Amino acid sequence: MERHTQSVTDHYRRDGLAEIIREALAKDGKDLDNLTIDDLAPVDEFHTRGREATVELAEFAGIEPGMRVVDVGSGLGGPARYLAQTYGCTVAGVDLSEEFCRTATMLAEMTGLADKVSFQHASALDMPFEDASFDLAWTVQIQMNIADKARFYGEIFRVLEPGGRFVFQDILQGPGGPIRVPTPWASEPGMNFLYSPAKLSDLLTDVGFEQIEWRDRTDAHREWYDHQPEATGKPMPKLSIHLVLGPEAGEKRRNTRQNLLEDRIAYVQAILCKPD
Ligand SMILES: C[S@@+](CC[C@H](N)C(=O)[O-])C[C@H]1O[C@@H](n2cnc3c(N)ncnc32)[C@H](O)[C@@H]1O
Repeated sequence: MERHTQSVTDHYRRDGLAEIIREALAKDGKDLDNLTIDDLAPVDEFHTRGREATVELAEFAGIEPGMRVVDVGSGLGGPARYLAQTYGCTVAGVDLSEEFCRTATMLAEMTGLADKVSFQHASALDMPFEDASFDLAWTVQIQMNIADKARFYGEIFRVLEPGGRFVFQDILQGPGGPIRVPTPWASEPGMNFLYSPAKLSDLLTDVGFEQIEWRDRTDAHREWYDHQPEATGKPMPKLSIHLVLGPEAGEKRRNTRQNLLEDRIAYVQAILCKPD
């Protein structure tokens, strides 16, 4: 385990999250006996641009029915359930937060997807899977917390089949200087480990990946934030990612927008391949 692993766990800790989400869903008028993945999308897609980004990334990746997918840093499982329901994939998620895994499992049961998705409490740096277990590795906005990036991407490489694809959306260092904190992924600067796009691209090549596509999506994320409560001044809906972000939610999101406006962060989506 990395030295700062405990601070990452503490940062994401939300005691009683599963119950908090259940209550919020009920208050919002959702039918808990017939819950859909769309009911959950405002609260279980724990990354910038939410469901919109998941749909976009899945189309970009060329996901095919029946693929065996590993979601590295699966959070509350929103993307995993989307891939399972939309494409018929089997998705295995791992996450450092035990509470997130428990909540993700409850939400999978409530949406009738428990036979297609599973969530294990484990570190991305030491995944509980055999070599070459998956056709596709998917990760969305977790490596910002990980200092040992060679090991992180090496683990992803290891669990992929030769010929398997690796797709990600991630936050990288922009040219505008050090980020403002707190953000949704870091309470203080010591939890933030951003590489520039060029440095990450070089590392992935060193790990052994072949790059298939690489695209900057910073503008799309900046535009999305222009329509969010942080920009419009409208109140945040009661059923929203604020439930997961905790008491500093407003400040974390305002800082993310500001980091985007000041070019301190960049968003990249990419597809890579483990050579045969
Ligand atoms: C911003 S959330 C993204 C969650 C999910 N990928 C999504 O898009 O909905 C970041 C997640 O990374 C997880 N995480 C951070 N470091 C990790 C590690 N070393 N191993 C596994 N999960 C980690 C956190 O617990 C958290 O759930």
